[in-house]
Amino acid sequence: MFDRLSSLSESALAKISSAKTSEELESLRISYLGKKSELKALLKKLGVLPAEEKPRFGAAVNDAVKKIESRLLMRRQELLSSAASVKKIIGGVDYTRPGFIQKPGLPHPLISTIEKIQKIFLRLGYGIAEGPDIEDDQHNFSDLNFPTDHPARDAQDTFFIEPIHADNPLLLRTHTSPLQIRVMSCLNPPFAVIVPGRTYRSDAPDATHSPIFHQVEGLVVDENITMSDLKGTLSFFAKELFGPDFKIRFRPSFFPFTEPSAEVDVSCVSCSGKGKISSDCRVCKGTGWLEILGAGMVDPNVFESACRRRGDRVYDPEKVSGFAFGMGVERIAMLTHNIDDMRNFFENDSRFLEMLAS
Ligand code: DAH
Repeated sequence: MFDRLSSLSESALAKISSAKTSEELESLRISYLGKKSELKALLKKLGVLPAEEKPRFGAAVNDAVKKIESRLLMRRQELLSSAASVKKIIGGVDYTRPGFIQKPGLPHPLISTIEKIQKIFLRLGYGIAEGPDIEDDQHNFSDLNFPTDHPARDAQDTFFIEPIHADNPLLLRTHTSPLQIRVMSCLNPPFAVIVPGRTYRSDAPDATHSPIFHQVEGLVVDENITMSDLKGTLSFFAKELFGPDFKIRFRPSFFPFTEPSAEVDVSCVSCSGKGKISSDCRVCKGTGWLEILGAGMVDPNVFESACRRRGDRVYDPEKVSGFAFGMGVERIAMLTHNIDDMRNFFENDSRFLEMLAS
C-alpha cells in the first residue's frame, strides 16, 4: 500500500506540472483528490493494515494530499500568469489577475452587545448619555455617597492619574455611575437615560476580570418612581435580551448610591432557560440563577449631591425619586454567546470575532 501510494503521488505531481489548461488541472484535481479517487480508496483500506502501521500510513496519505494540493495551486498560478503575460496585459496592467478578497469588517461582539442593550431601552423611550473616561474622585465616588476612606471604595481598585491632587484626584472611572451626577447636573426630571461606556479597575486579567471593561448604567428620575417600576423594567429587559421564558430575581445587596440596593439574577442561560434547573449545571453551579447587574432606588444623598452641584432644589429627595442599575457588558456577552474566558474579547484573534459574528 505504501508503494502504491508513492507511485500514485509521483504520477499526480508529474501530470499536474505538465498540465496546459486550468480545465485540465481541475480534472486532475478531481481524479486525484476527489471523493472517488484512488487516494480516498486507499485511505478506506487503512483497516487492513497492522495497528502499528496505521498512523504511519495515515500520515503518508496526508503528506501526499498536501503535496498534490500545493502543486495544483502552484501550477494554477503559473498558468494564470503566463496566460496573462501572453495576451492579456494591457498598458502594463494585468486585468486578469484575481483580485484581493477584502473581508468586510464586523462589529466587535462587545459593541454589538451594547447595541442590543441600547435598542431595548430606546424602545422604552430612554435617551443615551455619554461621559468622560477620565473622571474626578468627586463624580466617581464622593458625590455617589462613597465618603473618603469608606470601605466600599476598596471594592473598586482604581487607576489614579498623576499628579495626584489631594482634594479631588483624577482617575480612570471605575464604573459608569458618575454619569448619574453628570446627567442630573444638566437635565431636569423627569428623564430616563442609559449610559454605555468603558470602565477601568486595577485588576489582573483572568477569565472573569480585565483592567478595561464595559458597563451600561441606567437612571430614571421622576415623581413617585418605585421599586416595582425598576422590577418591571428589568424583567422586560431580561425577556427581550435572553428570551420570553427568562425570569429575574432580586437579592438584597449594598451599593452606597442606592437604598435599598439589589443584585439582580436572570434564569441560568444554560439550564433553567430550558425550563429545568440542572443540579450539575457548570454555568450556574446548580442554582438555576446568574447574576447580571446591580440596581436600586437612588439614595437621597445622591439627589443632595446633584442639588449641591446645581445650586437649586430640583432634585429635592422629598419631591423626586428614581431608580438606577448598572450591568457589565462583558458578562452579558459571555452569557449570550456562551464564552467562558473574558480575555477573548481583548485579544483581537480574528477567528474568535468571526465565529461570534456568524
Ligand atoms: N456601579 C456599580 C458597580 O460598578 C454597579 C451598579 C450597582 C450601578 C447598582 C447602579 C446601581 O446604578 O444602582 O459595581
